[in-house]
Amino acid sequence: MTDQPNGGISRRGLLVIGAAAAGAAAVGGGLALWNRGEDDEAVPPGATTTTPQTDAAGPGPAETFREPDELRSAGGRLDLELVAALAAARVADRDVRVLTYNGMMPGPTLRVRPGDRVTLRLRNELAAVTNLHTHGLVVSPEGDSDNVFTMIEPGAAFDYDYRLGADHPPGLFWYHPHHHGTTADQLFGGMYGAIVVEEDEPAPVARERLLIIADIRFGADGAVAGANRLDRMLGREGDLLLVNGQLMPTLVARPGDRERWRIVNACTSRYLRLRLDGQGMDLLGVDAGRYAEPRRLDELVLLPGNRADLIVTATEGESLLQTLPFDRGRTGMGAPPSTTTGADLARFTVAGPPGGPAGALLAAGAVRDLRAEEVTGRRTVTLAMGGMGMGGGMAFTIDGREYEEGRTDIEVRAGAVEEWTIENLSTMDHPFHLHVWPMQLVEVDGTPVDGVDVRDVVPAPARSRVVVRVAFEGIVGRTVYHCHILDHEDLGMMGVIRVG
Ligand code: C2O
Ligand code: CU
Ligand code: CU
Repeated sequence: MTDQPNGGISRRGLLVIGAAAAGAAAVGGGLALWNRGEDDEAVPPGATTTTPQTDAAGPGPAETFREPDELRSAGGRLDLELVAALAAARVADRDVRVLTYNGMMPGPTLRVRPGDRVTLRLRNELAAVTNLHTHGLVVSPEGDSDNVFTMIEPGAAFDYDYRLGADHPPGLFWYHPHHHGTTADQLFGGMYGAIVVEEDEPAPVARERLLIIADIRFGADGAVAGANRLDRMLGREGDLLLVNGQLMPTLVARPGDRERWRIVNACTSRYLRLRLDGQGMDLLGVDAGRYAEPRRLDELVLLPGNRADLIVTATEGESLLQTLPFDRGRTGMGAPPSTTTGADLARFTVAGPPGGPAGALLAAGAVRDLRAEEVTGRRTVTLAMGGMGMGGGMAFTIDGREYEEGRTDIEVRAGAVEEWTIENLSTMDHPFHLHVWPMQLVEVDGTPVDGVDVRDVVPAPARSRVVVRVAFEGIVGRTVYHCHILDHEDLGMMGVIRVG
């Protein structure tokens, strides 16, 4: 059976680091979209294994860890343009073509503060429709804000206007395309970037690092590989695991250094089960959630879409940031398992004279616990696979239906505190994501969750149920919830919610 994330999820998993190929990418523009299709040779059916990253990297010089470019708000404003385009890049020592924002993979990191207004023009130079989602941000999901129903045609542009409340939670968020039907193709092709909402008093650390982990696969021609029907059913995985667009970068620290690692799982389908053996890992929280106290762990599971806010206390020596194998289940009885293999992600070299004395670990202190509050409504959301879908293959459904943009599936009164039971009837795991309103994990597969654990993507392991509580406060509007295996989302495992 699946190695399930459960109430003890905080004690498992691991993380990575990464730096983008930002410096290597050059704007290509005007090129045809990468190859894709049902019979793309580059992606063998059920391709979910990982090549040994160290071999793939060869004996060549190790890359020094790099981070994406940063754009920082000033005076409460950030104004920027993002251009979505195919671009030439150098990835894992190969000349390839990837999908980029501003010619970079990952796109620039947006650093903002609570109360800021972000105006963003997205220009679509792709050959397909796109749009932008600010995953996890607590902003309006309507109009020109975080509206996933927006469609930006090739050659067109759209002006987004995001207003963060003065009480917006600090933390790590990210952006990626969200046009139903092409979300997985575009994310897998390289379109993703981070958003950091800074706190007033940042954690006292020697340095902060951003690690966006994503997998990708290239065909012999250097184009991003397409996905066939089975890949989509399983959720496509790439054979290269990149950290900020780099293969196996090296991070360097001094003994005793306390570092803050902000990690994004930007993989289209892959679960990350991260380890950093030989080093101390204390988890401040997953997504924008904060634990009352940091939690010491050996392993950290990040589902697609999840982020970790991690404190690493450096110990002299060489460590590897690794992801371990994970069984996400199978598409049906007798079908091949979607077993994700492990891989090395980055090197962490700790040497030299001791670093400065580490400050105390930050405790969030009192955090709101929805288990202590009155529930105004309860509902069950059922995830299932099977039968014939509208696209001709297996149907991926929520409450027995495939996604339909015009239909509102769930209506919630503004101000409600609801308890949702997410029931997964299928034989695969599905990371369940709700836009805008964070979920507090209450129970996973019958096991009550320790402490307050708030996330925007929660595990829904195969043939089990997960209980969450959600406060529908602050923001109203119409948006979506879905499986964050984005191939499943594109296949129909998404519904529409309206809060108001
Ligand atoms: Cu990160 Cu609706 O997605
Ligand atoms: Cu989202
Ligand atoms: Cu799924």
